[in-house]
Amino acid sequence: MMPPVDKITVSDIVRKKKDNKKISVVTCYDYPTAILAEKAGIDILLVGDSGGMVSLGYNNTIPVTMREMLTMARAVSRGASMPFLIGDMPFMSFNVSKEQAIKNAGKFVKDAGMDAVKIEGGSKFQDTIRAITDAGIPVMGHIGLTPQTAPLWSGYKMQGASSASGRDLIEDAKALRDAGAFSVVLEMVTNQVAELISKNIDIPTIGIGSGPSCDGQVLVMHDILGLYDKFLPRFAKRYANLGSEILSALRKYQTEVVDGTFPSKPHTSEMDPREFRKLTSLLKKEGLIAK
Ligand code: KIV
Repeated sequence: MMPPVDKITVSDIVRKKKDNKKISVVTCYDYPTAILAEKAGIDILLVGDSGGMVSLGYNNTIPVTMREMLTMARAVSRGASMPFLIGDMPFMSFNVSKEQAIKNAGKFVKDAGMDAVKIEGGSKFQDTIRAITDAGIPVMGHIGLTPQTAPLWSGYKMQGASSASGRDLIEDAKALRDAGAFSVVLEMVTNQVAELISKNIDIPTIGIGSGPSCDGQVLVMHDILGLYDKFLPRFAKRYANLGSEILSALRKYQTEVVDGTFPSKPHTSEMDPREFRKLTSLLKKEGLIAK
């Protein structure tokens, strides 16, 4: 089957940087929001392992499995066909060997309809990224704050605050580009370092908490919609408060069930009265009901 004519591809994304056009990215974990994100004209849907937290309720992204990621990715690809779809490789799905990484990247593309994968980590993963791209699968890199390992080492801190850390990040970005990554996420990187990277590497940078100079921006869907209450990072912007809307809808429903106002006539199907009379007399005759 041919993809839709206006399906977004790697070359469209790379061209946007050349044409000075910003790239819109949102995380997405299920079918209904994938449909809505496509309708909104978002360029890239990232099935992020953040779904393990905001959708599955884990405290961080460490426990997220390939199986969980593939279930979310399949739902997203059923809902959206035009945006470019990226599956986030969960912790330990690419860290063991290049073979393991290629195999799991292949599952995102072959079994879950993704167009690319994302890998967290800097130049240490150069060989892994090269191996996956050589196998024919586009890879998005992810440097700066890397949430899969941050809780194990130094916590969730701003990156690129010192000249040494800024230099490391620029080297990392170049290493990923050289390994064949088509784009790179910069998470919680200082504005100046994000700008230096965006100006000095020719692949698009997608920022999250990294300022306005990045070639595109990504936010977590549940932060945008006001659906995750545990915390809202300072850099995230809430565009709606669906959590409180859902809560008031559910409260109303609960009240109406208890007080009997739901279901009312429009939500109820009636049997033809003649057929009903026939049924009751039959049941009485057979002793199956008393009245
Ligand atoms: O998992 C995720 O949502 C991500 C984005 C924050 C970039 O990696």
